[in-house]
Amino acid sequence: MINRRIVLAARPQGVPRPEDFRIESAPVPRPEAGEVLLRHTCLGLAPAARLRMGEQASYREPMALGDVVYGQAIGRVVESRDPGLPVGTSVMSVSGSWQEYSTAPGSNLVKVDETIAPPSVWLGALGTSGMTAYVGLLDLGQPREGDTVVVSAASGGVGSNVGQIARQMGCRVVGIAGGAAKVAHVTAQLGFDAAVDYRCADFAEQLRAACPSGVDVYFDNVGGAVRDAVWPLMNQGGRIAVCGLIAEYNDNRQDGPGWFQILSKRLKIHGFIMSDHLHRRADFLRDMASWYRAGHIHVQEDISDGLESVVPAFIRMLTGENFGKTIVRI
Ligand SMILES: NC(=O)c1ccc[n+]([C@@H]2O[C@H](COP(=O)([O-])OP(=O)(O)OC[C@H]3O[C@@H](n4cnc5c(N)ncnc54)[C@H](OP(=O)(O)O)[C@@H]3O)[C@@H](O)[C@H]2O)c1
Repeated sequence: MINRRIVLAARPQGVPRPEDFRIESAPVPRPEAGEVLLRHTCLGLAPAARLRMGEQASYREPMALGDVVYGQAIGRVVESRDPGLPVGTSVMSVSGSWQEYSTAPGSNLVKVDETIAPPSVWLGALGTSGMTAYVGLLDLGQPREGDTVVVSAASGGVGSNVGQIARQMGCRVVGIAGGAAKVAHVTAQLGFDAAVDYRCADFAEQLRAACPSGVDVYFDNVGGAVRDAVWPLMNQGGRIAVCGLIAEYNDNRQDGPGWFQILSKRLKIHGFIMSDHLHRRADFLRDMASWYRAGHIHVQEDISDGLESVVPAFIRMLTGENFGKTIVRI
């Protein structure tokens, strides 16, 4: 039996081209003990595969040239060396990849219950896309009833679920999508409260109009210029879940500064203003005074004298010429 599979032939520069891939034929692999052989019935394509086609590591190692392209698959067990997964069982494999057959240990596979939903849905709403939407929105976005939730790539695998879950939470949901058909779908079929086309020249104004109370949660699937338009609308205490940066995937810059570091290293960036935390003052004074008295806190001051030295000291401070806390003795 022959397994046809798609391998990475060249590392794409920009948007991938057909020549970057090659279809190969190889013998169908045989399952080891504890494994099963799957005949794939559908593949779920994920933008993150593009990230692995470049040379740099992101949150996953890059593919090597000649590797079968990474992706999820639904398959039926056609040969089993795992008693828990008899022939005929339908399963989801996160590492099935772009090919007709794959082997995997039974412990890595998720049984697909076709009485709940057809196989393809287990790659989407009931699979990785839905789970990404669920944890990203609920655990990181922490939406509350009445919040405005904005999601980009709103008609897609993740975004469509983000918006629909947010509606279940009683939020006002605004989708961002490309083109009139997707915008109409997001409101008419998915039930979002509003949707905006980011390809329109007046996108930023349209988004502002769609979010009259500002934005409490932004679920970012794309990054780039779309994200830039959301920034000024964020409300105090708002949350941004950085899920994906698809607008930047073709740049081959996933080792670069900024957003890829935030995404791949799961960084938390949290703005804060001291005056919101005055309830901590007693704790602060207790601890800091005790460390100071014990000699654990070194004080470095940049002292000058007289009212006339205020402005020069201020300027020196802003240009880094001060050394320590700037104090003017009057
Ligand atoms: N963090 C995680 O664990 C995780 C897991 C799964 C997915 N993701 C990320 O979630 C995002 C969505 O993934 P998906 O699988 O649901 O894909 P998807 O939304 O079904 O498909 C990708 C969509 O991205 C939009 N897009 C493409 N290029 C764009 C650009 N330059 N600017 C703005 N939008 C652009 C397109 O929609 P429009 O036509 O509306 O532009 C396209 O339909 C991706 O960034 C993906 O990497 C992250």
